[in-house]
Amino acid sequence: MKARVVSTGSYVPEKILTNFDLEKMVDTSDEWITERTGIKERRIASPEQATSDLAYEASLKALKKAGLKPEDIDLIVLATVTPDMLVPSAACMLQMKLGAKNAVAFDINGACTGFVYALSVAEKFIKTGASKRALVIGAETLSRFTDFTDRSICVLLADGAGAVILEGTRKNEGIQVIDIFSDGTMWDFIHMPAGGSKMPVDEKVLQERLNFIKMRGNETFKVAVKTLEEVVDTTLKKAGITSSQLGLLVPHQANIRIIQAMAKRLELPMEKVMVNIDRYGNTSAASIPIALDEAAEMGKIKRGDYVMLAAFGAGLTWGAALIKW
Ligand code: UT7
Repeated sequence: MKARVVSTGSYVPEKILTNFDLEKMVDTSDEWITERTGIKERRIASPEQATSDLAYEASLKALKKAGLKPEDIDLIVLATVTPDMLVPSAACMLQMKLGAKNAVAFDINGACTGFVYALSVAEKFIKTGASKRALVIGAETLSRFTDFTDRSICVLLADGAGAVILEGTRKNEGIQVIDIFSDGTMWDFIHMPAGGSKMPVDEKVLQERLNFIKMRGNETFKVAVKTLEEVVDTTLKKAGITSSQLGLLVPHQANIRIIQAMAKRLELPMEKVMVNIDRYGNTSAASIPIALDEAAEMGKIKRGDYVMLAAFGAGLTWGAALIKW
């Protein structure tokens, strides 16, 4: 039994924050952001929108495309580092909003690798027969945890959601190989110091702005380039194919330079790499399913194509999935 992708959906909030808007907020420039990251603009959730609201919109689109009702879903796995609240899970909030009464719902925190983590977990449920039809979502409202006085991070992070529906198949299609990894020794490369059990939010935390995401960008960059290339290479080898047989690479959208370096090392032309970081920035767990949905909508993926997903993020975490569409 394999797990195949039945449909995809995505949603980004309406509000656009451009590099020129950021120029007015911190000491930065459109030129620096474009050259160093590839980002031109990003989306920011409205004050009324929480992560489950973005996930809801993306899920509705995926359900509609598949011609399914929320009741047809028996598993909801939502990857996020920005749940609506610490308790309960954003997945339960989403289940309630959808009315997916036949589903079991839970969150996964794999940071920017979260969607690949969630896909891996859902794939195991499908393969073992524990789930017939799973809704897998990556959704983030990172703007709520972004320090808009810190130029090293506020130009990067953004909000959005993407979803896929998985079903079992006896045919040789769907997820061929999926591998996820983590290394907690580098936990402090990307982290949010306060707001958890280690450091509850108090006056001092607010003053020192410790309730926002911090990143050691340059060190993360170097590990990301090397690790992403390695994980894609290993996944290709496991599947017994070469990069030239890939129809499309859908990488996590953290930095255009990371994506280009990866494509170069894998000898993949950029036409075979999905890029939308220019419009959406880094949406963490949401970036891959948004890019996947856009690629599918744009006709960049045809039936039978090999599609590679590759992600890297806080934890540190990383992973890749090879899907036969
Ligand atoms: O999504 C999860 C995984 N995350 C990643 O993979 C992100 C990986 N990292 C990156 O994408 C890049 O490291 C960044 C985009 C975050 C930073 O780019 P960089 O080329 O590594 O820059 P840097 O941190 O080495 O900083 C270079 C300079 C510094 O100034 P000095 O010390 O050379 O004078 C920074 O202060 O750029 C400065 N700088 C900025 N200047 C203008 C940092 N942020 C900005 C900014 N505007 N927004």
